[in-house]
Amino acid sequence: MAPSDRTGFAPNSAAARDIEYYLHPFTNLKLHEKNGPLIVNEGKGIYVYDDQGNEIIEGMAGLWCTSLGFGEERLAKVAYEQMLRLPYMQGFTHRSNEVAIDLAEKLIQIAPGAMGKVFFTNSGSEANDTQVKIVWYYNNARGKPEKKKIIGRHKAYHGITLAASSLTGVDYAQKGFDVPLDRFLHVTTPHYWREGQEGESEDEFSTRLAQELDDLIEAEGPDTVAAFIAEPVMGAGGLIPPPAGYFPKIQKVLKKHDVLMIADEVITGFMRTGNMFGCETYDIQPDLISIAKALSSAYLPIGAVMMTNEVYNVLREGGDKFGMWNTGYTYSGHPVSAAVALETLRIYEERDILGHVRSVMDGFQEQMAAHADHPLVGEKRGVGLFAAWELTPDKENKGTFDPARRVAFQMAAFAQANGLIMRALPSDTIALCPPLIISEAEIEETVRRAAKSLDDIYKWVQDEGLV
Ligand SMILES: Cc1ncc(COP(=O)(O)O)c(C=O)c1O
Repeated sequence: MAPSDRTGFAPNSAAARDIEYYLHPFTNLKLHEKNGPLIVNEGKGIYVYDDQGNEIIEGMAGLWCTSLGFGEERLAKVAYEQMLRLPYMQGFTHRSNEVAIDLAEKLIQIAPGAMGKVFFTNSGSEANDTQVKIVWYYNNARGKPEKKKIIGRHKAYHGITLAASSLTGVDYAQKGFDVPLDRFLHVTTPHYWREGQEGESEDEFSTRLAQELDDLIEAEGPDTVAAFIAEPVMGAGGLIPPPAGYFPKIQKVLKKHDVLMIADEVITGFMRTGNMFGCETYDIQPDLISIAKALSSAYLPIGAVMMTNEVYNVLREGGDKFGMWNTGYTYSGHPVSAAVALETLRIYEERDILGHVRSVMDGFQEQMAAHADHPLVGEKRGVGLFAAWELTPDKENKGTFDPARRVAFQMAAFAQANGLIMRALPSDTIALCPPLIISEAEIEETVRRAAKSLDDIYKWVQDEGLV
């Protein structure tokens, strides 16, 4: 029996009450009523503990976010102290608080490229939604009201507010919600293994994608295209690092057409790729950056948009046309979230988390790559401290499973039964993105449990006649 074939919950148990009252985000609702939730109430280091007392490695750092792992007392303490001192202060109409100021200053100091200003949000989706508003306002302020289209990539994930889910290019986050809205376009996923043509080198593939972008901008009219948005490494769409030369070629096209480059660093930011930001790893010079998640190690919700002073100056001048800069959130620059984020950044530096990531990431990638010849693994992908296997029933022809059989989801269920949280991504990709504090020994144990789950799913697909 597969571990997901579970039914029957004690009346009034937490699981029964969950099913009764809690509508979960991104969840198969009927399956949830049958299988119930995994209820986790405690965590320490890279481990979480479910309500049955099982110890589980959080192999995804939550949703790519708990970079410092669980139970970090310094973050709890700083939140407590900040709550007592000043639990809230707004940022509207010239009001401020010193913690948010300190955080903005620190972010500008460590940001890649030439960022000049920070605008605070509560999440990655809000950051990307704000990017759309900034880009539209920017071109209205410049007297280019037609220059509004934003280009993303198929399989990109940028969040789920209306505008962010229009930037998003994974169909699972769009079906049924009447998005993308108008003025949002998508180009080919930069996935060489699946999208590269016969005999085409990786570099040639990148050249072709840059040409595709150029052709699209020309066809739409450069005066109608405002921005291009990209995750340095595509995450939720399948954990896809860019092919060689991709971003420099893409940015040449953007420059030619006066199109802004938005880097969505919501999961790649803060050392995940082995540098402080993914922009450094892939030679990206953004005009705007979105961050969230590991900014506070997910201990409190906070996100931000960072922008160059060139962009800021246009917003500033826009005030003469439109009045004040009239956008913002009640919790923009929330002092408690800001204090936790600042402390997170201090811990990163004091413990040299970047040095640690660099010291363990090659071993992690090698251990994941050691299973690339498993009969089910079509491609092993990854960089820094995240990696994935794309599963295939037919390695030679890069075949795909019937999506209805949800093979990667089934593998995630086996992994959970083996004491490891993994994440199923599109095209039956299965990912790991452990907390950055993971030790070498813990990496070995994580990959061992992942490999055991690979064997379990292989047996399952054989039993089901899927291979
Ligand atoms: C690259 C990227 N951008 C944006 C988001 C949305 O962030 P949030 O869920 O905080 O709204 C995510 C979430 O996973 C993400 O991976």
